[in-house]
Amino acid sequence: MVFPEYRPRRLRKNENIRALIRETRLSADQLVSPIFIMPGKNKREEISSMPGVFRLSVDQLAKEAKELQSLGVNSVILFGLPEKKDAMGSGAHAKDGIIQRGIRELKNKVPDFTVITDVCLCEYTDHGHCGCLIEETVDNDATLEILAKTALSHAAAGADMVAPSDMMDGRVAEIRAVLDENNFEMIPIMSYAVKYASAFYGPFRDAADCAPQFGDRRSYQMDPANSREALREATLDVDEGADILMVKPALAYLDIIRQLKDEFDLPIAAYHVSGEYAMIKAAAEKGWIDEERIMEETLLSIKRAGADIIITYFAKDMAKLLRR
Ligand code: PBG
Repeated sequence: MVFPEYRPRRLRKNENIRALIRETRLSADQLVSPIFIMPGKNKREEISSMPGVFRLSVDQLAKEAKELQSLGVNSVILFGLPEKKDAMGSGAHAKDGIIQRGIRELKNKVPDFTVITDVCLCEYTDHGHCGCLIEETVDNDATLEILAKTALSHAAAGADMVAPSDMMDGRVAEIRAVLDENNFEMIPIMSYAVKYASAFYGPFRDAADCAPQFGDRRSYQMDPANSREALREATLDVDEGADILMVKPALAYLDIIRQLKDEFDLPIAAYHVSGEYAMIKAAAEKGWIDEERIMEETLLSIKRAGADIIITYFAKDMAKLLRR
């Protein structure tokens, strides 16, 4: 069928018809809101490079979770700013660490809310790398043990799901084994399977104070130029027992999200990261773009590319928009 018999504009005539044939829809219950937890009491500090995103002290978490829940967003992913850092990142698995306290607070006060934890060491190491070091190299195999301990401590504190973001080889298998040995066989692993060495993490590193003190993360995070390697990384994580595969960042890697969606039958998550958020906020502040429409269009593109779950600093704003 060709013009004039076929006219695509017939189905664009009004909003009712457009809605009838809409292929992709965002849903608040598939959004995950990141939360930064900081020491202290009654703290709510706005992150300068991420307007509208706050570092919260533990006592502020339940309020935040209830607000998210009232908007239909039922999950968060937690990041911590510990009181102290050391070479081995031992604060990451401290029984009374910042994340462990945050998890307990949330699970006590808002039990039906889903708490996902980021499992990584960079916020807890004084050198800012995602694992422990031998001289200036991150020691893959020694790091695995610390990561598994960290995931276990999160599960023991009550976390509903763990999300390793360190990019060490073999970490999903190690975490799965340790969780299973300790009767946490029902705790899913959302693996940051395909995580690129990206400049889009800039604002996050300020927010979580976790920039590497020397060098960069290119010896463990992926080269942005590669897509076949993404499939290899994802295959490894599937074989090691990942339950959900994540691609990160999102917008510059929509092709990767689509490839993973087509190649694998696990749920796909995408992390719409800090720099992606900051760029929209900055341009909107200047009045150069319409923030709300750009937010919606961006998140829609991530969903359309194949993401089931979207982790985004816009979770609350998007959920509010979906309510209207
Ligand atoms: C920890 C981690 C990072 C992000 C999530 N987990 C930082 C990094 O790898 O440098 C970035 C998230 C964002 O930019 O929003 N490794």
